[in-house]
Amino acid sequence: MDPVTVVYKSDARRGAVWHGVFAAEAPDLALVDWSPEAAAGARYLVAWTPPGDLARAMPALSVLFNLGAGVDHLSSAAIGEAVSLVRMVDPELTRSMVEYVLLAVLAQHRDLPAYVEAQRDGRWEARPVRRAADHTVGILGLGVLGKAAAAALAGLGFPVRGWSASPKAIDGIETFAGRAALPCFLHGVRSLVCLLPLTDDTRGILDAALFAALPEGAGLVNVGRGGHLVEADLAAALDSGRLASAVLDVLAAEPPPAAHPLFAHPRVIATPHVASTTHPATAARQVIEAVRRHRDGLPMANVVDRTRGY
Ligand code: NAP
Ligand code: GLV
Repeated sequence: MDPVTVVYKSDARRGAVWHGVFAAEAPDLALVDWSPEAAAGARYLVAWTPPGDLARAMPALSVLFNLGAGVDHLSSAAIGEAVSLVRMVDPELTRSMVEYVLLAVLAQHRDLPAYVEAQRDGRWEARPVRRAADHTVGILGLGVLGKAAAAALAGLGFPVRGWSASPKAIDGIETFAGRAALPCFLHGVRSLVCLLPLTDDTRGILDAALFAALPEGAGLVNVGRGGHLVEADLAAALDSGRLASAVLDVLAAEPPPAAHPLFAHPRVIATPHVASTTHPATAARQVIEAVRRHRDGLPMANVVDRTRGY
């Protein structure tokens, strides 16, 4: 039986790792780099940015494997209803997101943004050292990444709450579901972490009304998408002291334009969308398993529900 062709369209350096894993572990599959000729008859594509004319370029496409966890950059119309969209759920991507959320929440809990600002201004000013037990963390989104971050924070002694679309029961985490429960969830949260997918329902959720429901001096951590945040509302909340600091891994425009009010803000720590990335070796193994399952007529994991948008 001829090997099944899987087309890879992404970074060549990471692609070398993908090729190594496929060659060593999947003789039944042939990973080929993107070219119009290779793509023409192939049923499987691995990409973060598929070609604009996907239906014409890959008329036989059955499954698009997205190289990241979020799929908001992919237009459903451009992919076509007949194509299954599989998002990345990778243990290494989860691990690096947990590290980043811990880093950000610990920085806020221990007043690091204020200390960095004070140092820049030449001020030596100690603040009270508080207990983790008095710093409630709220996580918007209790999916793969939100649940892992919640467990790690709870392990450090933070009281942790999570908010999701559907109700959940998770040991050691207080859970809330649906819009009506949002004010209750926000009440008393000292660090709010956004790990939602960007959809029509969640766009702009981090706005002035939400900040007003947090206690004065709370911190925001946005590791979801820039589209979750109303940037002008955050700038106003930081300037008025309603929020003490923000850690932003994502912005509406990446990179931000020069003199961006949040990128330049003294109480914002901003990173260039690096909270977590797909690890090529473990991701390649996920795709190998999924292609084999699809080829054998079995259901695949992590298929995006196109009506929900995540
Ligand atoms: P996931 O497993 O699909 O989880 C999404 C969670 O959000 C679920 O708990 C879901 O609720 C909840 N949710 C969705 N819409 C909601 C709504 N309208 N109201 C309340 N809750 C809602 O996603 P994931 O793998 O954890 O990833 C989450 C997001 O992180 C990605 O979409 C991406 O945008 C972002 N991300 C960022 C980076 C980075 O480097 N900055 C890296 C990876 C991912 P239910 O459980 O009830 O469905
Ligand atoms: C990165 O932002 C991802 O969605 O994996």
